[in-house]
Amino acid sequence: MKINIKPKTTPTNLLNQLRSLGYEIPAPCAGNGTCGKCHLKILNPKVITEADKRHLSEKQLEEGYRLSCTYPVMEETNLFLETSKLEIISDVHLPDNTASLTGHACAIDIGTTSVVMSFMDCDKNKLLKTITFSNPQSSYGADVISRITYAENNLDILVKVIRRPISEAIQSFVLEYGTLNHIYVSGNTTMNQLFMGLSISSLGLYPFDFQLKDLEHIDIDDFTYTVIPGLSAFVGGDILSGIVECDFINTSDTSLLIDLGTNGEMALSHKSKIYTTSTAAGPVFEGISLSCGMQAKAGAIYDYDGNSHTIDKEEPKGICGTGTISTVAYLSKNGLIDATGRFIDKFQDEDKYYLTDNIYISQGDIRAIQTAKSAIRTGIEILLDTADIQAEDVKNIYISGGFGKYVSLKALCDIDILPSTFLDKTRTIGNSSLNGAIKLMYTNNKKVIEEIISRNQTVSLSDHPKFQDYFMDYMYF
Ligand code: FES
Repeated sequence: MKINIKPKTTPTNLLNQLRSLGYEIPAPCAGNGTCGKCHLKILNPKVITEADKRHLSEKQLEEGYRLSCTYPVMEETNLFLETSKLEIISDVHLPDNTASLTGHACAIDIGTTSVVMSFMDCDKNKLLKTITFSNPQSSYGADVISRITYAENNLDILVKVIRRPISEAIQSFVLEYGTLNHIYVSGNTTMNQLFMGLSISSLGLYPFDFQLKDLEHIDIDDFTYTVIPGLSAFVGGDILSGIVECDFINTSDTSLLIDLGTNGEMALSHKSKIYTTSTAAGPVFEGISLSCGMQAKAGAIYDYDGNSHTIDKEEPKGICGTGTISTVAYLSKNGLIDATGRFIDKFQDEDKYYLTDNIYISQGDIRAIQTAKSAIRTGIEILLDTADIQAEDVKNIYISGGFGKYVSLKALCDIDILPSTFLDKTRTIGNSSLNGAIKLMYTNNKKVIEEIISRNQTVSLSDHPKFQDYFMDYMYF
């Protein structure tokens, strides 16, 4: 789509101007010129900034690409915006028993990076449709910490930008199907509190208190939304829904649920207790924030074994989260990086490994992946320690997230995100936040939620005596 931007009396950068016109541009570093993700094609470019030179190739600069957050709009600017639909793999499961609900229902998973909405006909026990889109708050920072910082002075903006597309999707469903009787919302504590319009400042400050501790209802544009409570400031309704989906409270098995998303939340069920925590994995597993990272959509490299395998077999456009994991596993297994994650000599001039002619993984990317993998594995080890059990004692491991069928469990074990003993006991369960929210709609949700909250023990990783040791150990390959 071609767009024409006129300069303002008070000059500002292109990112700000596009935002003020309602366009959502990915900006994981919140416009600081450090992530390189806000680039777009300017048809009449006038300047090249230092940040452009750092993040864009010569070919991209020649073609007119510039970082929008550092591009000053001094005169009329014509640009080209690519719009593409996000495709997230969401296996949606409806419970067998629908007797308790009638009419139409909608379950919503508000993720830090993306939003999924499933609409159901309860009378026919039928899934009508599922839609997905990027969380528009991503333009104001990739992770919850940057959202909390941005919300200090701009809470109303973050509330408005998430409510608007959800509300539009609800209205458009009602136009098509006539009614909508039940709406449940699941998400991490920050996302849910923002949707409710609650302040999130206490989530970023010790003692990290949170407000959404019970099932709450909010009316927006004539519809009532029921929002699922969290378990702590960093373990939200999405994990509570995941615990419902994995049926932790009705089984005596020792089981572990890991959400391989931006917040790396996890829950361990052992002897009628549930231990929960979250880790600062960052957006690496979501496929963004890396040099050639992208979300899981057509053209994303989802697997790499010396050859690139892409979603829908399209021309490679970038690497998504699963592709990142399998690429690093490949580099490690084939001795192309050493145990510290450093490229072997032949790559060190460029500090890049090319998967295709123009798609690569950089030394900086590998460092980001190491941090994320170590964060997740440290979380697992500390939960096991807290429950006083070994990895071998865990009977079922559930991996949730948008990875779906694409994730390689072997690659997760190969790079030590999971202990190797987990390999045969692990399965992917898709979007457990969404499916758990659907289950909660159909059950006596209040009772189930109270039971989970009473069994929960929130574990603070940084307070654990072995936190530093584990974190350093698992940085290695
Ligand atoms: S470099 Fe522009 S938003 Fe990150």
